[in-house]
Formats: sequence, structure tokens, C-alpha cells
Amino acid sequence: MGAVRIAKSDHDQIEYVIGSNGHSADALISILQDIQAELHYLPEEALRHVAKRLNLPLIQVYGVATFFKAFSLKPKGRHQCTVCMGTACHVRGAGRVLEELERKLNIKAGNTTDDMEYSLDTVNCVGACALGPMVIIDGEYLGIMNAAKVKNVLKAHGAKAARSGQRKG
Ligand code: FES
Repeated sequence: MGAVRIAKSDHDQIEYVIGSNGHSADALISILQDIQAELHYLPEEALRHVAKRLNLPLIQVYGVATFFKAFSLKPKGRHQCTVCMGTACHVRGAGRVLEELERKLNIKAGNTTDDMEYSLDTVNCVGACALGPMVIIDGEYLGIMNAAKVKNVLKAHGAKAARSGQRKG
């Protein structure tokens, strides 16, 4: 897969992020977090640029970018939706919640909608088992989820996605 060139505006944004975090190796995680927040993923070109500006080996930057699940090397949607599929959530029906999200968004877990609005992922336990099934959407933890609540949750986080789910589903 060839490297995707990032837009000049994105490049300027990355420079700004590096400048505001400082050029020290200690700032690596903060810089990657800020780039992820701005671009919704970490493009290869951005990782190369960060490595160069922080004077770090590229492998070290890649190591951090691939270690944390919060970082993605693939473009992500504007909204991040994560379903807990840990044992406690699973036995309480997380599978049905995930199926409903997949149906509404018309994607399988691990993918992003064509309009880049939503990414759907799974995780194994977020430490709130008593409130399962848990869904995390844009950082908001939603407990005691069920398939019937999915439509309203998507509506609350962007009516567009719910509409496209209805159109395709
Ligand atoms: S298994 Fe889902 S929060 Fe623990």
C-alpha cells in the first residue's frame, strides 16, 4: 500500500501540534494523541514527520502508534463507536447490540462508513462490567445498552448516520 500524501492544511496542523507540545521525545504520546484527534488517524507521512522533528527513530514512533488501541493507522470516522465484547457484556447481549450497530451503519466491526462519519470497533472489557452491555461513543460511556436503544444513540450522535442506516438497512 503506497503512502497517502496528507493535505498542506493537515501538514500545517501537525507542525502546530508539535510546536505546541514541544519538540521533546517525552511529548511523543501527546503529539500523537493531538494528531489523532485532529485527523482521526495517524497517516504514515505524519509519523515520519514527527520522527524527524523529534529526532526519534521512525520505529519508535511506529511502536507507540501501534501499541495503543486509541491510535489508528487507518482513516477513522468523525464519530468513534466501540462495543465492549468482554465476557460480562457478551453474556448480557453485547452481540445483539453490535449486530444492530453493524446493520444501522451498514458496516462490520473494524470498519468505517463510506461517508467517514462512523468507525465501529470492539474492545474486551472497559472495567464497567456491572453496567454491561457497554458502548462507548465519542468518549461517552453508555451502559445497559440494548439493540432497541441503538437508533436513538446514533441519532443523538449524528442524525446523518441513523438516516443512512435506515436507507441501506
Ligand atoms: S466486559 Fe464489558 S465492561 Fe467488562
